Amino acid sequence: MKHLLSTQELDVDQALTLLDTAEEFQAVANRQVPKLPTLRGVTMVNLFFEDSTRTRLSFEAAAQRLSADIMTFQVHGSSVSKGESLKDTAQTLEAMGADVIVIRHPSSGAPATLASSGWVHSSIINAGDGAHEHPTQALLDAMTLRQRFHSEPRGALLTGLSVAIVGDIVHSRVARSNVFLLTTLGAKVTLVGPPALLPQGVDDWPVHSTYDLDDAIDSAPDAVMMLRVQRERMGDGSLISHKDYVRNYSLTRARADRLPQDSIVMHPGPMNRGVEIASHVADSSRSVILDQVRNGVSVRMAALYELRGGQA
Ligand code: NCD
Repeated sequence: MKHLLSTQELDVDQALTLLDTAEEFQAVANRQVPKLPTLRGVTMVNLFFEDSTRTRLSFEAAAQRLSADIMTFQVHGSSVSKGESLKDTAQTLEAMGADVIVIRHPSSGAPATLASSGWVHSSIINAGDGAHEHPTQALLDAMTLRQRFHSEPRGALLTGLSVAIVGDIVHSRVARSNVFLLTTLGAKVTLVGPPALLPQGVDDWPVHSTYDLDDAIDSAPDAVMMLRVQRERMGDGSLISHKDYVRNYSLTRARADRLPQDSIVMHPGPMNRGVEIASHVADSSRSVILDQVRNGVSVRMAALYELRGGQA
Protein backbone atom coordinates (compact mmCIF):
# COMPACT_ATOMS: atom_id res chain seq x y z
CA MET A 1 0.00 0.00 0.00
CA LYS A 2 1.39 3.40 -0.92
CA HIS A 3 -1.31 5.71 0.55
CA LEU A 4 -4.16 5.48 3.06
CA LEU A 5 -6.88 7.75 1.70
CA SER A 6 -10.20 6.11 2.54
CA THR A 7 -11.77 2.99 3.98
CA GLN A 8 -14.01 2.67 0.94
CA GLU A 9 -11.01 1.45 -1.01
CA LEU A 10 -9.85 -1.08 1.63
CA ASP A 11 -10.71 -4.72 1.01
CA VAL A 12 -11.14 -7.22 3.85
CA ASP A 13 -7.55 -8.47 3.63
CA GLN A 14 -6.04 -4.99 3.75
CA ALA A 15 -8.27 -4.01 6.65
CA LEU A 16 -7.40 -7.16 8.59
CA THR A 17 -3.68 -6.69 7.93
CA LEU A 18 -3.82 -3.15 9.34
CA LEU A 19 -5.85 -4.24 12.37
CA ASP A 20 -3.67 -7.29 13.11
CA THR A 21 -0.50 -5.20 12.78
CA ALA A 22 -2.01 -2.68 15.19
CA GLU A 23 -2.58 -5.48 17.71
CA GLU A 24 1.07 -6.50 17.41
CA PHE A 25 2.17 -2.92 18.02
CA GLN A 26 -0.12 -2.54 21.01
CA ALA A 27 2.15 -4.90 22.88
CA VAL A 28 4.98 -2.40 22.34
CA ALA A 29 2.96 0.31 24.04
CA ASN A 30 2.95 -1.80 27.20
CA ARG A 31 6.73 -2.12 27.37
CA GLN A 32 8.83 -0.02 29.67
CA VAL A 33 10.56 1.67 26.72
CA PRO A 34 7.74 1.83 24.17
CA LYS A 35 9.93 2.22 21.11
CA LEU A 36 10.89 0.16 18.06
CA PRO A 37 13.61 1.07 15.55
CA THR A 38 11.37 0.12 12.60
CA LEU A 39 11.02 3.52 10.91
CA ARG A 40 14.39 4.99 11.76
CA GLY A 41 15.34 7.37 8.93
CA VAL A 42 11.73 7.95 7.84
CA THR A 43 10.29 11.45 8.23
CA MET A 44 6.59 12.00 8.84
CA VAL A 45 5.07 15.44 8.44
CA ASN A 46 1.81 16.46 10.08
CA LEU A 47 0.17 18.91 7.69
CA PHE A 48 -3.00 20.07 9.44
CA PHE A 49 -5.18 22.73 7.83
CA GLU A 50 -7.87 22.23 10.51
CA ASP A 51 -7.71 22.16 14.28
CA SER A 52 -7.03 18.86 15.92
CA THR A 53 -5.81 17.65 19.25
CA ARG A 54 -6.01 13.92 19.46
CA THR A 55 -5.44 12.96 15.84
CA ARG A 56 -2.30 15.07 15.46
CA LEU A 57 -0.84 13.98 18.78
CA SER A 58 -1.76 10.40 18.08
CA PHE A 59 0.16 10.41 14.78
CA GLU A 60 3.10 11.98 16.61
CA ALA A 61 3.05 9.32 19.30
CA ALA A 62 2.80 6.58 16.66
CA ALA A 63 5.77 7.96 14.71
CA GLN A 64 7.81 8.34 17.90
CA ARG A 65 7.21 4.75 18.95
CA LEU A 66 8.52 3.60 15.57
CA SER A 67 11.57 5.93 15.80
CA ALA A 68 10.52 8.04 12.79
CA ASP A 69 11.43 11.73 12.64
CA ILE A 70 8.53 14.14 12.93
CA MET A 71 7.91 17.57 11.46
CA THR A 72 4.78 19.49 12.33
CA PHE A 73 3.49 22.15 10.02
CA GLN A 74 1.45 24.92 11.62
CA VAL A 75 -0.89 26.40 9.05
CA HIS A 76 -1.66 29.40 11.26
CA GLY A 77 1.20 31.83 10.92
CA SER A 78 2.64 29.95 7.93
CA SER A 79 2.96 30.92 4.27
CA VAL A 80 -0.43 29.30 3.65
CA SER A 81 -1.99 32.41 5.16
CA LYS A 82 0.03 34.32 2.58
CA GLY A 83 -1.69 32.33 -0.16
CA GLU A 84 0.77 29.50 -0.71
CA SER A 85 -0.89 26.60 -2.54
CA LEU A 86 -1.19 23.01 -1.36
CA LYS A 87 1.19 22.02 -4.17
CA ASP A 88 3.92 24.46 -3.13
CA THR A 89 3.49 23.63 0.55
CA ALA A 90 3.73 19.88 -0.07
CA GLN A 91 6.72 20.20 -2.42
CA THR A 92 8.50 22.40 0.12
CA LEU A 93 7.93 19.82 2.86
CA GLU A 94 9.20 17.04 0.64
CA ALA A 95 12.30 19.01 -0.26
CA MET A 96 12.96 19.15 3.49
CA GLY A 97 12.85 15.37 3.68
CA ALA A 98 9.23 14.28 4.17
CA ASP A 99 8.51 10.62 3.34
CA VAL A 100 4.99 10.48 4.72
CA ILE A 101 2.56 13.40 4.70
CA VAL A 102 -0.33 13.12 7.15
CA ILE A 103 -2.87 15.66 5.97
CA ARG A 104 -6.06 17.07 7.47
CA HIS A 105 -7.90 19.47 5.21
CA PRO A 106 -11.34 21.14 5.14
CA SER A 107 -11.87 20.13 1.49
CA SER A 108 -13.05 16.62 0.66
CA GLY A 109 -10.58 15.04 -1.72
CA ALA A 110 -7.51 17.15 -0.84
CA PRO A 111 -5.47 14.09 0.28
CA ALA A 112 -6.45 12.15 -2.87
CA THR A 113 -5.44 15.12 -5.00
CA LEU A 114 -2.06 15.20 -3.31
CA ALA A 115 -1.63 11.46 -3.82
CA SER A 116 -2.57 11.41 -7.50
CA SER A 117 -1.23 14.77 -8.69
CA GLY A 118 2.38 13.73 -9.11
CA TRP A 119 3.40 16.86 -7.17
CA VAL A 120 5.10 14.75 -4.50
CA HIS A 121 6.34 11.18 -4.08
CA SER A 122 5.58 10.84 -0.37
CA SER A 123 3.03 8.43 1.04
CA ILE A 124 -0.16 10.31 1.92
CA ILE A 125 -2.34 9.52 4.93
CA ASN A 126 -5.76 11.14 5.13
CA ALA A 127 -6.27 12.41 8.68
CA GLY A 128 -9.72 13.81 7.85
CA ASP A 129 -10.86 15.63 4.70
CA GLY A 130 -14.00 17.76 4.96
CA ALA A 131 -17.05 15.59 5.42
CA HIS A 132 -15.50 12.81 3.33
CA GLU A 133 -13.34 10.30 5.23
CA HIS A 134 -11.17 9.74 8.28
CA PRO A 135 -9.81 6.23 7.75
CA THR A 136 -7.55 5.88 10.80
CA GLN A 137 -10.47 6.84 13.05
CA ALA A 138 -12.60 4.04 11.59
CA LEU A 139 -9.69 1.60 11.96
CA LEU A 140 -9.30 2.46 15.64
CA ASP A 141 -13.04 2.03 16.10
CA ALA A 142 -12.94 -1.38 14.42
CA MET A 143 -9.97 -2.33 16.61
CA THR A 144 -11.89 -1.31 19.73
CA LEU A 145 -14.92 -3.36 18.65
CA ARG A 146 -12.78 -6.42 17.94
CA GLN A 147 -11.09 -6.22 21.33
CA ARG A 148 -14.42 -5.94 23.14
CA PHE A 149 -16.23 -8.70 21.33
CA HIS A 150 -13.44 -11.20 20.56
CA SER A 151 -11.16 -12.63 23.21
CA GLU A 152 -8.55 -13.16 20.44
CA PRO A 153 -9.00 -10.15 18.17
CA ARG A 154 -6.28 -11.06 15.64
CA GLY A 155 -7.80 -12.31 12.42
CA ALA A 156 -11.35 -11.71 13.62
CA LEU A 157 -14.06 -10.03 11.56
CA LEU A 158 -17.00 -8.11 13.01
CA THR A 159 -19.58 -10.47 11.54
CA GLY A 160 -23.03 -10.02 13.03
CA LEU A 161 -22.14 -7.14 15.36
CA SER A 162 -24.65 -4.30 15.26
CA VAL A 163 -23.44 -0.74 15.54
CA ALA A 164 -25.65 2.36 15.77
CA ILE A 165 -23.94 5.59 14.68
CA VAL A 166 -25.88 8.53 16.10
CA GLY A 167 -25.98 12.25 15.43
CA ASP A 168 -24.61 14.57 12.79
CA ILE A 169 -24.02 11.98 10.10
CA VAL A 170 -24.10 14.33 7.14
CA HIS A 171 -21.06 16.33 8.25
CA SER A 172 -19.17 13.37 9.67
CA ARG A 173 -16.15 11.87 7.94
CA VAL A 174 -15.98 9.53 10.95
CA ALA A 175 -19.43 8.14 10.10
CA ARG A 176 -18.60 7.66 6.41
CA SER A 177 -15.33 5.89 7.08
CA ASN A 178 -17.00 3.67 9.66
CA VAL A 179 -19.89 2.76 7.36
CA PHE A 180 -17.48 1.43 4.75
CA LEU A 181 -15.01 -0.28 7.08
CA LEU A 182 -17.46 -1.84 9.53
CA THR A 183 -19.67 -3.22 6.77
CA THR A 184 -16.62 -4.56 4.91
CA LEU A 185 -15.78 -6.43 8.12
CA GLY A 186 -19.31 -7.85 8.36
CA ALA A 187 -20.99 -5.58 10.93
CA LYS A 188 -24.54 -4.25 10.57
CA VAL A 189 -24.65 -0.46 10.77
CA THR A 190 -27.66 1.72 11.57
CA LEU A 191 -27.41 5.48 11.13
CA VAL A 192 -29.53 7.52 13.51
CA GLY A 193 -30.16 11.25 13.30
CA PRO A 194 -32.66 13.97 12.49
CA PRO A 195 -33.66 14.26 8.81
CA ALA A 196 -31.51 17.37 8.33
CA LEU A 197 -28.42 15.53 9.56
CA LEU A 198 -28.77 12.31 7.57
CA PRO A 199 -27.12 12.46 4.14
CA GLN A 200 -29.19 12.51 0.99
CA GLY A 201 -28.85 9.22 -0.81
CA VAL A 202 -28.34 7.33 2.45
CA ASP A 203 -30.65 4.66 1.01
CA ASP A 204 -27.86 3.71 -1.37
CA TRP A 205 -25.43 3.07 1.49
CA PRO A 206 -25.07 -0.47 2.86
CA VAL A 207 -26.85 0.53 6.10
CA HIS A 208 -30.23 1.01 7.77
CA SER A 209 -31.24 4.46 8.86
CA THR A 210 -33.78 5.87 11.28
CA TYR A 211 -34.78 9.20 12.83
CA ASP A 212 -35.69 7.51 16.10
CA LEU A 213 -32.92 6.98 18.66
CA ASP A 214 -35.28 5.18 21.04
CA ASP A 215 -36.12 2.61 18.37
CA ALA A 216 -32.44 2.14 17.68
CA ILE A 217 -31.73 1.62 21.40
CA ASP A 218 -34.57 -0.88 21.68
CA SER A 219 -33.11 -2.92 18.85
CA ALA A 220 -30.30 -3.77 21.29
CA PRO A 221 -27.17 -2.70 19.39
CA ASP A 222 -23.79 -4.07 20.50
CA ALA A 223 -22.28 -0.61 20.20
CA VAL A 224 -23.58 2.93 20.07
CA MET A 225 -21.23 5.50 18.54
CA MET A 226 -22.17 9.08 19.41
CA LEU A 227 -21.05 11.94 17.16
CA ARG A 228 -20.60 15.63 17.83
CA VAL A 229 -22.88 18.16 16.15
CA GLN A 230 -20.42 19.93 13.83
CA ARG A 231 -21.77 23.47 14.04
CA GLU A 232 -18.62 24.77 12.37
CA ARG A 233 -19.64 22.96 9.16
CA MET A 234 -23.23 24.26 9.20
CA GLY A 235 -22.86 27.86 8.16
CA ASP A 236 -25.32 29.69 10.39
CA GLY A 237 -25.81 26.60 12.52
CA SER A 238 -29.60 26.76 12.33
CA LEU A 239 -30.24 23.27 10.95
CA ILE A 240 -31.66 22.10 14.23
CA SER A 241 -32.52 23.60 17.61
CA HIS A 242 -30.27 22.70 20.49
CA LYS A 243 -33.20 21.85 22.75
CA ASP A 244 -34.84 19.47 20.28
CA TYR A 245 -31.52 17.85 19.52
CA VAL A 246 -30.74 17.12 23.14
CA ARG A 247 -34.25 15.80 23.80
CA ASN A 248 -34.28 13.46 20.82
CA TYR A 249 -30.67 12.49 20.18
CA SER A 250 -28.69 12.71 23.40
CA LEU A 251 -27.46 9.47 24.91
CA THR A 252 -28.82 10.12 28.37
CA ARG A 253 -28.35 7.89 31.37
CA ALA A 254 -31.94 6.64 30.99
CA ARG A 255 -31.37 5.64 27.37
CA ALA A 256 -28.01 4.01 28.12
CA ASP A 257 -29.63 2.01 30.92
CA ARG A 258 -31.95 0.42 28.36
CA LEU A 259 -29.04 -1.02 26.38
CA PRO A 260 -28.09 -4.68 26.84
CA GLN A 261 -25.60 -5.30 29.63
CA ASP A 262 -22.61 -5.83 27.32
CA SER A 263 -23.26 -3.00 24.87
CA ILE A 264 -20.55 -0.41 24.61
CA VAL A 265 -20.62 3.35 24.07
CA MET A 266 -18.11 5.00 21.71
CA HIS A 267 -17.25 8.58 20.79
CA PRO A 268 -14.44 9.82 18.51
CA GLY A 269 -14.01 13.03 20.48
CA PRO A 270 -14.10 15.88 21.02
CA MET A 271 -17.19 15.30 23.20
CA ASN A 272 -19.77 17.86 24.06
CA ARG A 273 -20.83 16.52 27.43
CA GLY A 274 -24.50 17.16 28.11
CA VAL A 275 -25.25 17.56 24.39
CA GLU A 276 -24.84 14.31 22.44
CA ILE A 277 -23.74 12.33 25.48
CA ALA A 278 -24.46 12.65 29.19
CA SER A 279 -21.38 12.99 31.35
CA HIS A 280 -22.44 10.01 33.42
CA VAL A 281 -22.57 7.81 30.31
CA ALA A 282 -19.21 9.04 29.00
CA ASP A 283 -17.61 8.06 32.31
CA SER A 284 -19.54 4.82 32.83
CA SER A 285 -18.17 1.30 32.57
CA ARG A 286 -19.76 0.89 29.11
CA SER A 287 -17.70 3.74 27.74
CA VAL A 288 -14.70 2.65 25.66
CA ILE A 289 -13.76 6.21 24.72
CA LEU A 290 -10.27 6.05 26.22
CA ASP A 291 -9.68 2.62 24.65
CA GLN A 292 -10.42 4.29 21.34
CA VAL A 293 -7.77 6.92 22.04
CA ARG A 294 -5.24 4.25 23.06
CA ASN A 295 -5.98 2.12 20.00
CA GLY A 296 -5.57 5.19 17.80
CA VAL A 297 -1.83 5.20 18.43
CA SER A 298 -1.51 1.49 17.53
CA VAL A 299 -3.59 1.83 14.38
CA ARG A 300 -1.49 4.79 13.21
CA MET A 301 1.69 2.84 13.90
CA ALA A 302 0.25 0.09 11.71
CA ALA A 303 -0.60 2.55 8.93
CA LEU A 304 2.90 4.08 8.99
CA TYR A 305 4.44 0.62 8.99
CA GLU A 306 2.31 -0.67 6.11
CA LEU A 307 3.11 2.38 3.97
CA ARG A 308 6.82 2.77 4.79
CA GLY A 309 7.98 -0.30 6.71
CA GLY A 310 9.58 -1.98 3.72
CA GLN A 311 11.41 1.15 2.67
CA ALA A 312 12.95 2.37 5.89
C1 NCD B 1 -13.45 13.99 14.54
C2 NCD B 1 -12.98 14.71 13.31
O1 NCD B 1 -12.19 15.63 13.40
O2 NCD B 1 -13.44 14.32 12.26
N1 NCD B 1 -12.57 13.96 15.59
C3 NCD B 1 -11.46 13.16 15.58
O3 NCD B 1 -10.73 13.07 14.62
N2 NCD B 1 -11.21 12.45 16.68
C4 NCD B 1 -14.84 14.24 14.89
C5 NCD B 1 -15.28 15.63 15.26
O4 NCD B 1 -14.62 16.62 14.98
O5 NCD B 1 -16.37 15.72 15.86
